[in-house]
Formats: sequence, C-alpha cells, structure tokens
Amino acid sequence: MRKPFVAGNWKMNKTIAEARELVEKMSAEIKDVATVEKVFCPPFTALATVRDALKNAECGVGAQNMHWEEKGAFTGEVAPNMVKELCEYVILGHSERRAYFGETDATVNKKLHAAQKHALVPIVCVGETLDEYESDRTQEIVSSQTRLGLAGVSADYAAKIVVAYEPVWAIGTGKASTGAAANAVIKDFIRSTIADLYGAETAQAVRVLYGGSVTASNAKEFFTQPDIDGALVGGASLKLDEFVSIIKAF
Ligand code: PGA
Repeated sequence: MRKPFVAGNWKMNKTIAEARELVEKMSAEIKDVATVEKVFCPPFTALATVRDALKNAECGVGAQNMHWEEKGAFTGEVAPNMVKELCEYVILGHSERRAYFGETDATVNKKLHAAQKHALVPIVCVGETLDEYESDRTQEIVSSQTRLGLAGVSADYAAKIVVAYEPVWAIGTGKASTGAAANAVIKDFIRSTIADLYGAETAQAVRVLYGGSVTASNAKEFFTQPDIDGALVGGASLKLDEFVSIIKAF
C-alpha cells in the first residue's frame, strides 16, 4: 500500500519570520494526521526554521531545487550535501524551473542521480504545456520526461521516488485538471513508462502525485483516484485552512 503524500511547494514566498508563523499554526492542526506523509518545501532561506518548527508534527521538509555537482564554482547554487544537511526531500524539474531557468530532462536526470547518491527523496515533476496539451502531445511529453528524467537510476531507488504530474496549464491558473483525466495520464503514461523501465512492481510502488490548482474543494476528487497518491500544492499550501483541509481530505 502506498502511503498518501501531500507536499506544499511554497515557491518564492515567505520570509523566515512569515514561514515560522505559518508552520507553527499548521503544526498544531496536522500533527495528529499520521496516515498522510506531509512535506513542506519553503525557500532555502526558511528550511531550517520550518524544519525546527515542525519537529513535533511528524512532517518532512524539502528543498525546491539543487545543483548536481558536489561543490565548486557555481555561484548561487546549492549542492546536494548542503540540502541533505537541512532536509530529506527535494523537488526536481518543476515546470517553472524548466520554463525560466533552463532546466531540461538532462539536468533533471543529473540531479536525480545526485539525489540518489545522497539518499534524498526527489519529487520529480513532469507535465505538458498548454500548447502541447492542445496539440495532443501529452503522452509524448509526459512519457519522455519520465523516461529521460529517470534514465540510469537503480530500480531500488526508483521505487522510492515521488513523481508529480503537473500539467503546466493547470499550475497557478485556478484551472485544475479533473480527477479522471489526471488519473489516466498517471496510469497510462507515467506508471506504464516506469513499468517499461523497471517492471510492474516498481511502477506500483512509486508514489505519483497530481499538482496544479489543487484546493480544499477539489482535493477529494483527486485523492479518490486509484493511481493518484496525493498532491503537490502551490498556492493553497500558503493558506492555513486550505492546506490543513487538503491534508485532511484523505
Ligand atoms: P498551484 O501550483 O497549486 O499553485 O497550481 C502547483 C505547483 O506549482 O507545484
């Protein structure tokens, strides 16, 4: 049985003081929800604060990105062992990184290998843009992002990763996909690609999330789908009541 998983991607929001205030309030509300794996991904600057504030709430903490190199002349970047000092999870290949910061399937793959080396749990994002969706290329894009992103990763490690299906047209737009449509993409294009690479058992073990305009009012629609194991939540993860309700929607 795959444990339900809800992660909040705060993107570039919240100072340290604001982050502390929000998670202290959330912590009290969610500490008793043991059936769901809860992960907070604040900006790098707030990781330690969020981790400490959540100490008693059985929550995980994750970075939103990292570099694949161990160290060196890469101004502005953060190495895997630096991330590992602070947290256990890392989001890789978010569509905003692909769109604005030159992230490609090849760099996602390098980062995934680095995450494997440092025993970090990656949340690997895949998803088609509006153009690709409208020209019927969802299968092609999502399958190849999954295949190229995971290339060369061991089967043992592949079973432990988290994949997030985030159609780009649904992110931050208020226009979520539907439970049935997202489930079909996850089952037919993501799990089936993982099954091709690693076999059916690994494909069934991998947790796959839906992301894109998830709110308290539509969370259940996604969480009741057989192939959707949870959500990567952006905007709604910054709102106390919304995020608590999403976690409790399982
Ligand atoms: P959203 O973002 O929930 O605000 O659409 C999701 C994400 O980008 O991970």
